[in-house]
Amino acid sequence: MIASTFEASLALDAQAELGEGPLWDDDAGCLYFVDILAGRVHRFDPRSGAARTYEVRRLVGAVAATDRGDLVLAVRDGFARLDVETGAVQDLARLPSDASDLRMNDGKCDPAGRFWAGTMALDERAGAGALYRLDPDGVVSTILSSVTISNGLDWSADGRRMFFIDSPTQRIDVFDFDPARGTIANRRPFVQIAPDAGMPDGLTVDAEEHVWVSLWGGGAVHRYRPDGSLDAAVGLPVAFPTSCVFGGADMRDLYITTAAVRLSREERARQPAAGGVFRCRPGPAGRRANRFKG
Ligand code: BGC
Ligand code: CA
Repeated sequence: MIASTFEASLALDAQAELGEGPLWDDDAGCLYFVDILAGRVHRFDPRSGAARTYEVRRLVGAVAATDRGDLVLAVRDGFARLDVETGAVQDLARLPSDASDLRMNDGKCDPAGRFWAGTMALDERAGAGALYRLDPDGVVSTILSSVTISNGLDWSADGRRMFFIDSPTQRIDVFDFDPARGTIANRRPFVQIAPDAGMPDGLTVDAEEHVWVSLWGGGAVHRYRPDGSLDAAVGLPVAFPTSCVFGGADMRDLYITTAAVRLSREERARQPAAGGVFRCRPGPAGRRANRFKG
């Protein structure tokens, strides 16, 4: 049974091709997100309405805040840092394996400040991607291979479980997580999503340990209870939500990034806000993003 449904409205008409990777910076009170295909990081301050664009000039899949006040980026074939004052981008590390026809996709920091991000083939062929972990000392480890579209990641509040999505599986999986070592074990399905509801994409775990997942092609975000049952749904006027995160002064604004890339010309005319950032207040609070410690 769905307990409740909500509607999200447009917060920023970003016109992104593939808006993704929303990050709420609770120090600055602003939202960062990426347009993967345009190679851009966007910053949005909802209090003033101010928006700023950083040109990364490379495919950029995800961002995380660091404890130095800059951002760490998952760029096409590795990791980089972005100075949010000057906009300068500096390489940090390369992926350990050949990634010439792959690109980075979703990423997030774990509770100990390591940055996790995964890849997918540009043609989305099965099993070509992987999930990587960037440690504060700059060393990159391959954690999972044979991933197709590496997507949503987040951790339970006690840091003992990690949620992960490989989109074409139509599942949200959960692993046991060792916060001290940064290792995962015992993969199992948490939620199975019917294909007609859309493909599971980005996710966030809220303060009540419920999991919010964006449904690519499904025009909705779902909230799942810890037992895996569906609790709530957020509807959108666009078909391709990509990811979501809580933000705002009370951490109760749910920000949802969206994409236009898969829409035909006719669909773009009917979904003029596709690529924008949407927002709603469904009730629960989110948790602060973990920062990269390096
Ligand atoms: C990727 C898209 C992909 C989609 C599927 C997104 O994170 O960036 O390229 O088609 O996930 O869920
Ligand atoms: Ca994604």
